[in-house]
Amino acid sequence: MSKSNILVIGSLNMDWIINVHHTPIAGETIIGNFSQEVPGGKGANQAYTIGNLGGNVTMLGAVGTDLTGHKLLNNLEGVGVDPTHVLQCSDVGSGLALITVNEDKDNSIVVLPNANNKVTPEFIQSQKPLFEQAEIILLQMEIPHESVYAATRLGHELGKTIILNPAPAPRSIPTEILKMVDFITPNESELSILSGIQCQTLEGARLGAASLLLKGVKNVITTLGPQGALLVNQEGSIHFKGYPVQALDTTAAGDSFNGAIAFSLAEGKSINAAIDFGNRVASVTVTRVGAQSSIPSKEELGI
Ligand code: RIB
Repeated sequence: MSKSNILVIGSLNMDWIINVHHTPIAGETIIGNFSQEVPGGKGANQAYTIGNLGGNVTMLGAVGTDLTGHKLLNNLEGVGVDPTHVLQCSDVGSGLALITVNEDKDNSIVVLPNANNKVTPEFIQSQKPLFEQAEIILLQMEIPHESVYAATRLGHELGKTIILNPAPAPRSIPTEILKMVDFITPNESELSILSGIQCQTLEGARLGAASLLLKGVKNVITTLGPQGALLVNQEGSIHFKGYPVQALDTTAAGDSFNGAIAFSLAEGKSINAAIDFGNRVASVTVTRVGAQSSIPSKEELGI
């Protein structure tokens, strides 16, 4: 069991995964193979990762009182995540995501937030005792942005470590919020959107990250797919090589990376060790299909 409690605040979705030959372009109809319905949602995937690694984790979010909502909560509970504070709404369905995975193993995702939109700033504020008990607050951007910012402010005010995974990336994040973030973890495209700089190369990612440091973020960890990850902070930059694998489906790779980083930091590991571990966990995730179905357990990783 990890020493510190981690509070994950974010989305829970049921993913419908369809295998396709190629990703359809606007106006195109294609025939796919429906492969499976798998629990997902960026927030829930990150919480699931921490639970599956043996961490001490609580999930905050919202689902419907429908069967989907029950399945989503049960899946988290099954790996030791505390789901008891997730809001259950009777007037709206649970979040859904339609995911296509093409022959190059690239995915495209359309999210229907439904109950995820019920995570309001007022709801966040009402959960202050959970913030007080946690050491690390892990956030993404698949719930209303004002709620992400409210959680950041509350966590910061209480002196907690804030990890913000800016996915999906908004055009910008208020500087007031960036100043409160200890670790921001975009992928190359999210960093490009946030910084306005092309970040597909290592040098580009360094420049993009530097622009976020100027706005007050303490550490920028950019995920680079098979190339691993790049840490940029006031001390300089370090490139962490990825673990070479044959990718089958990249869904939830970033989520498992973020969950693994939060888990490692809660265990008292250094940020360098946490990033290397995040790369390792993500490299297993991409070799399997789906979101939570693809995330490895501590037994599989031998930890
Ligand atoms: O990051 C992958 C996740 O994005 C999927 O599980 C889907 O639900 C969307 O939230």
